[in-house]
Amino acid sequence: MPHTLVVQAHQAVCLITLHRPQALNALTTELLGELAAELQRCADDPQVRAVVLTGSRKAFAAGADLNEMAERDLVGMLDDPRQAHWQQITRFPKPLIAAVNGYALGGGCELAMHADILIAGDDAQFGQPEINLGIMPGAGGTQRLLRAVGKSLAMQMVLSGEAIGARRALDAGLVSEITPPELTVERALQVAQRIAAKAPLAVRLAKEALLKAQDVDLASGLRFERHAFTLLAGTADRNEGIRAFQDKRPAEFLGR
Ligand code: CAA
Repeated sequence: MPHTLVVQAHQAVCLITLHRPQALNALTTELLGELAAELQRCADDPQVRAVVLTGSRKAFAAGADLNEMAERDLVGMLDDPRQAHWQQITRFPKPLIAAVNGYALGGGCELAMHADILIAGDDAQFGQPEINLGIMPGAGGTQRLLRAVGKSLAMQMVLSGEAIGARRALDAGLVSEITPPELTVERALQVAQRIAAKAPLAVRLAKEALLKAQDVDLASGLRFERHAFTLLAGTADRNEGIRAFQDKRPAEFLGR
């Protein structure tokens, strides 16, 4: 049983809630390890088709746990077990939706940016305040933030440490929707459930293709897309999807 997470099944969607209320969900090695393990369990379980990740109303997560960080010197950082946990979280293959209320700062903002879709409460604050501590983002903050919001705003946030509110995050493309805070998780679950009803292999390959667009040149991305599209032609779910359309009934996808 994880100590730092609350895990609930909502049909085919797993809701994972970060739960360290005493420290605004600051990310300890234990929390990151438990989260990586839980995501691995969701990846391995065919019944789970999407995951929603959330925190509390006050904080999605206020960054790396600074008390724990204070105990690590340079040698400790070189051999940091959290790196392996972050890498495992990065590799999660199913749709991951972050429902963000309150503070998403430092590693908390970086964790939210690991999600494929971000839905934020209108009181959410996104920031990379590491510069105030004499350090810089270290869990993807410079790379993912720049890709999400563009150079100028990313530079401003990372170099000045200034956070942005939910409305600005929406305008900049960091989040896809904002909601009243009391509805953020409900809305994220609704979107996740909608995705969970689609053909799992198509969802998985579409996610992979979309992520490729950030990493590779257009020709390589298009090659990957064509290859994935062709692969799906051999699936039972593709036949079911087209047959269901012709029969005017909802499709029942089995992930084959
Ligand atoms: N680590 C450890 N504890 C934290 C924490 C953190 N990142 N953030 C908050 N807490 C703790 C506080 O110490 C406090 O504990 P006590 O009640 O025992 O004193 C409790 O959570 C509540 O916090 P505050 O009293 O500070 O709450 P507030 O509403 O006044 O302020 C805040 C909220 C603006 C988020 C403020 O807590 C804050 O600035 N936190 C630090 C944010 C930060 O710098 N994050 C980046 C960390 S570095 C990083 O993330 C790098 C990386 O991953 C690679």
